[in-house]
Amino acid sequence: MADLLVRERGGSAPGTSETGPSAPRPPLRREGPAKLAGVARYTDDIVVPGAWYGATVRSGEAHARLLGIERDPAFDWSAVVLVTAADIPGDNVVHLMADDQPALATDELRHVGEPVALVAAADPGTARAARDHVRLRTEPLPPVLDPAASDGAFARYEIVKGDVDAAFAALAADDIVVEGVYRTGHQEQLYIEPQAVIAVPRDDGGVTVHGSIQCPYYVHAAVKRALALDDARVVVVQEETGGGFGGKEEYPSGLAIHAALLARAAGRPVRMVYDRHEDLAATTKRHPALVTHRTAVGRDGRLLAQDVDVLMDGGAYCTLSPVVLSRGAIHAAGPYACPNVRIRARMMATNTPPNGAFRGFGAPQVAFAVETHVNRIAERLGLSPAELRRRWAYREGDVTATGQLLREGAGAGEVLERVVAASEFERARARTRAARERAQRAGGADGPVASGIGLALGWHGAGFTGSGESRLASVASVELAADGRVHVLSSSAEIGQGSRTVLAQLVAEALGVGDDLVDVAPTDTSLVPDSGPTVASRTTMVVGGLLVVAAERLRWEVEAQTGGAFAETSAEWAAAHGPVRVNERYGGRPGIVWDEAAHHGDAYPAYSWGAAAAEVDVDLDTGEVAVRSVVAVDEIGRVVNPLMAAGQIEGGTLQAVGYATIEELKHDGGRPLNDRLATYLVPTAVDAPAITALTATLPSTAAPHGAKGLGELPADVAAPAVIAAIHDAVGAWITELPATPERVLAAIRALEAERGRTAPTQGSEAAGGRPAGPGEAGR
Ligand code: MOS
Repeated sequence: MADLLVRERGGSAPGTSETGPSAPRPPLRREGPAKLAGVARYTDDIVVPGAWYGATVRSGEAHARLLGIERDPAFDWSAVVLVTAADIPGDNVVHLMADDQPALATDELRHVGEPVALVAAADPGTARAARDHVRLRTEPLPPVLDPAASDGAFARYEIVKGDVDAAFAALAADDIVVEGVYRTGHQEQLYIEPQAVIAVPRDDGGVTVHGSIQCPYYVHAAVKRALALDDARVVVVQEETGGGFGGKEEYPSGLAIHAALLARAAGRPVRMVYDRHEDLAATTKRHPALVTHRTAVGRDGRLLAQDVDVLMDGGAYCTLSPVVLSRGAIHAAGPYACPNVRIRARMMATNTPPNGAFRGFGAPQVAFAVETHVNRIAERLGLSPAELRRRWAYREGDVTATGQLLREGAGAGEVLERVVAASEFERARARTRAARERAQRAGGADGPVASGIGLALGWHGAGFTGSGESRLASVASVELAADGRVHVLSSSAEIGQGSRTVLAQLVAEALGVGDDLVDVAPTDTSLVPDSGPTVASRTTMVVGGLLVVAAERLRWEVEAQTGGAFAETSAEWAAAHGPVRVNERYGGRPGIVWDEAAHHGDAYPAYSWGAAAAEVDVDLDTGEVAVRSVVAVDEIGRVVNPLMAAGQIEGGTLQAVGYATIEELKHDGGRPLNDRLATYLVPTAVDAPAITALTATLPSTAAPHGAKGLGELPADVAAPAVIAAIHDAVGAWITELPATPERVLAAIRALEAERGRTAPTQGSEAAGGRPAGPGEAGR
């Protein structure tokens, strides 16, 4: 077995000596040197002699009946294979949650870009030409493009705590009710490496799939089912992967089926590698959302009741939408203690490309809504947004909207105070207010640019929702090989987040050995057990936790037999007795109870907590927002590897900044409009703010090593902080993401128009206290 394992060494790079005056540095990224040197092999770099190239025939219509698939008789089809749904030996489904999505369409086309047929040829040019000579005979059907008008629901949930209606009915005359409607659009994951797989036929009649994927066992299950193969005859190998962010969570399952079908038809390996245009047009996006808040607040500032409605657009097929909606619903009221909460959530079907997993998984949408809403309430009460959160944020002993008692590690207050201190929030806020008042006295704007600072707080449940982890029953293994080396075996995929490094580090610590003794097995389903998908901020906490227990058991067994420390005795013992392998299976946590139907109980094994303060400059002539800085603090239990943690915080924060300001994939009649990188904009290095990434630690018993989840949390928090900063700068609330220059200018104009109608309210915080905009400034 050892021959099959890639030797990877961590912590051995120059300059990482462990004999410094300070604490030992955390191990460096294991795959870092290969990536830096340009020798890491991504799927498209893998040479497979004789492999053909696949291409996909897609629907050009949002909704239509499919009457026929025809080959253009003028085209030379002799050196091309064509595959349709009729050639699928097993079930024509992309196996995920519902069985609604066909691998290839049969009689109905439900979205632009839906795969209908596949072609393969010896060279990519011929494959593309063949694709363009397949004609679809269709009959148009009316598309549903507005989720609010859809009557097809993928999921509905209602979370109830206390009695919201009674609380609203009992309000006194001077209590206040704040209502708000918040919208978010489609966001693209934009991993740096597009979707890519290679299917290689096996001698046993099965198929090996190599690819850029997050969840090898999802792909394994999907290919098995569509190709009617047994466990052993489907092997999935995750190659070096250039990012995932959820975008390689479900999509590769369908793509792997496509490549496997073509490989079967062609009797040879087939590569399918999307270019950026196809990737942007065809793959899943973050679900657009419409979130409505109605909140009752006592005259003394107490939070009395939250009534929240969440509507998400699922697109044409179910994918993972029910669990995205569930996570969105559970997080929708924010990290605030409230006696009466009602959250109604629904995920509707439309004739747009299916939406799916994206870092945050339903939480960034609802976090933008609730944090913006809470900031508006703070303004209404004339309170600092930090002070209002100090009063409202969860503490240990509070009970969440789903009825979960927060027994430990309620880090909201901790991250709030740390971010307020690190960003000098109140001083900065006083400064921007002084600038506003100065401008107001001068009768106009202070200059062409207005600056502001904003704050947001967030929480993110780590691991699968509810009973998900118990149902998954993940297995991870540690093996002592005969040569004395230690192997880490899990299906957790390194997608740039540092999982190889962190998992090896945890195992080395548990064994008391240097981490250069530890190898991480390739993510190959024929070698590693199913430790679940690489999603849901679960890898370090759940899979890492299993590995720590497996390593402790291995250490105990060896030390019991040798009578010496593992580090000193294991090599000799392994030579005589190895290899020996310890498998550890997730068995749930005692005292954790979840009622799926009622969405009541312990929604997550643990929550991590985040806060962000953002500073922006808004160009008052163009409406353009430049995010200058973000201070982000995340409380994640034990910080296993500070370097990797900082990387997660920086990356998630930057994605949230893009979400807040420029990122949106738009559709017209169900057709993606800006499906090129020339038109789908993301922040580049030039646009990136200075990000201060800080961590905080409270004790957690959710995993044996004390670590909670981190991957998604930073993507939840920074966007509402940016929106709050825009308000601080210009006095207008942006309630729809992204805050494009057009939307910002429109919001400024609307505010001017409103102030033109009402008498000026000099310097009052409640009225925003903003100067007139550039139109009245006479510049
Ligand atoms: Mo996923 S968004 O990779 O849980």
